[in-house]
Amino acid sequence: MKKSITIFGSTGNLMYKKLFPAIDTLLKDGHLDDTTKIYCIARKDCTLKDYIEDAKHHVKEKLDWDRIIPFLTYIIFDINDIKDYKLLQQRIIDDNIEDSMFYLAVPPTLFPIIAKGVSAAGLVQKGNENSRIVFEKPFGENLETAKQINRDLWTYFDENQIYRIDHYLGKEMIQNILVVRFANTVFSQAWNNNSIKSISIIVKEKEGVMSRGGYYDTVGALKDMLQSHLLQMASLIMMEHPKTYDSEDIKDEKVKLISQLDIKQNNILLGQYKGYTSEEKVDPNSKTETFVFLKAEINNKRWKGVPIYFLTGKNLDEKRSEIIIHFEDDENLNRLWPNAPKNNSKLIIKVAPSEGVHFQFSVKEPGLGQNLVPAVLDYCHSCQAVGNTPEAYEKLLLDLINKNRTLFTRWDEIESSWQVVETLKNKEIEPVIYETYSDLENLIKQLGMGDINDL
Ligand code: BG6
Repeated sequence: MKKSITIFGSTGNLMYKKLFPAIDTLLKDGHLDDTTKIYCIARKDCTLKDYIEDAKHHVKEKLDWDRIIPFLTYIIFDINDIKDYKLLQQRIIDDNIEDSMFYLAVPPTLFPIIAKGVSAAGLVQKGNENSRIVFEKPFGENLETAKQINRDLWTYFDENQIYRIDHYLGKEMIQNILVVRFANTVFSQAWNNNSIKSISIIVKEKEGVMSRGGYYDTVGALKDMLQSHLLQMASLIMMEHPKTYDSEDIKDEKVKLISQLDIKQNNILLGQYKGYTSEEKVDPNSKTETFVFLKAEINNKRWKGVPIYFLTGKNLDEKRSEIIIHFEDDENLNRLWPNAPKNNSKLIIKVAPSEGVHFQFSVKEPGLGQNLVPAVLDYCHSCQAVGNTPEAYEKLLLDLINKNRTLFTRWDEIESSWQVVETLKNKEIEPVIYETYSDLENLIKQLGMGDINDL
């Protein structure tokens, strides 16, 4: 079946940073048929040759452009003009495409316009499962607009034609969370407030907003990161056992979990990095947060009393995404070993840049003494793979092509996440200015929100 992928927003950051590299690898690994067409859509008036020159300049990775170029068509497009959607439809017919995908790599403000055009021109028609439409995150600008967009989408398309992306779900170690949790009694039996002391969900970034100031300033870290990636991670880590491993059963439990998150006003710290307001396309008086630290609770039987820390931000000391599960000290620890170090036992699910599982526990120090010291078991996930482990966007693009919706988010997951973010936004907390990550560490300690070294 001859396929096409139409990408709206082809001159954007996502295309250059993630989609081109993913397409390159999919081609290298033989996952795209030779007949596949990739229609790159943007406003810019230029030729395919100019577009490619521009793309080469923006894409950081070394790609095999000679392999990619034959698949590409560049289309100058006005998303407000129905004529352009109809021309696209004609081209798809002329190219004998039987299976077409439309990927909206654009800000959420443009979703309603493009979705309407795609539907009106008959590019995706209800009942035709050989046409699908994909939405990047954030889905909407707030709860209200997200609901409105979703209502519109359901009038234009069938739910099984709608793919809502959260690329963290395509990451190998995020897909591994439920396996580590539920396939190992050593963890599944201990996965509750009897054994777990705290949970930290961390996505730190070293870079600032780079060239994305215009977009970022309208969202900030709460909407850009917490609403999607961090809440998705939290829901997988803390949801109850699903009835089956079927994706709908898993999503049911994730939604229940997200709806139970409780975050008190004095457990929120927002920050903005120094110099942010001088970034290109950022409002000089912006109060947009580039850092979020939250301490949340879940008052259900499993998690009552366990603090859940969320930390994410830009311009921090390192790029690191991971989940840390701190286990309680054994109740007999101090009776048996009065000088034993505390908080020794933890499990770290490493998402990026390294992928794996790190388990730290206590052992006797080698030698004649009886001191307890930490020991580690380290599993390197990427080391087990032949070649590199797939990047999130490779996995998600392939799932899209294969009509597998498991790793795409369902509307109610998005709705419940927006509710969390909306509650936080309504508190109207001003960000503090930070210069370095240690400024934030100190502040978190001073405010008594937790010992950040312990997270
Ligand atoms: C994106 C955000 O969804 O995720 C970016 O819009 C962020 O601001 C990125 O930099 C982080 O993803 P990753 O895969 O690089 O950790």
